[in-house]
Amino acid sequence: MSPLSRSLLVVIFLATSWGAAAREPGSKAPPAYNPPPESSRFIAAPGVEAAQKHCLACHSADYVSTQPPHMPAAFWQNEVAKMRNAYGAHLSDDDAKAVTDYLVTTYTEPSAGRR
Ligand code: HEC
Repeated sequence: MSPLSRSLLVVIFLATSWGAAAREPGSKAPPAYNPPPESSRFIAAPGVEAAQKHCLACHSADYVSTQPPHMPAAFWQNEVAKMRNAYGAHLSDDDAKAVTDYLVTTYTEPSAGRR
């Protein structure tokens, strides 16, 4: 083997082993991530299934339960419309009505129990 090809081999060896060393940290498995169990829930009332099915994909039920109490029905209609039109929630018109009815009845009516 000529001195030139030997030094080429050395360069190739060093380049590949440095490359491997540089990649090593990234090749480790990411640390385990176990989020705590979900603790917020929609109030159990007729129609809650619709909210559970359509309103928990992107955020928790806290987004609903932390709204001011007794907001007018139009507030919940607008919220559901905003989720559909601005944020991309996929609900049919019937599902949107079911969720809105549930929210108005459960989170707006003065007689509705909160939590
Ligand atoms: C496709 C994702 C997605 C779905 C599904 C979704 N939301 Fe949201 N929601 C959002 C985003 C994004 C925000 C704004 C978050 C922020 O500002 O930090 C939000 C915020 C809210 C808020 C807080 C007030 C506001 O307007 O910002 C309420 C109340 C709410 N959502 C209710 C609902 C209800 C009810 C449903 C079921 C019909 C629903 N969301 C489904 C994405 C979604």
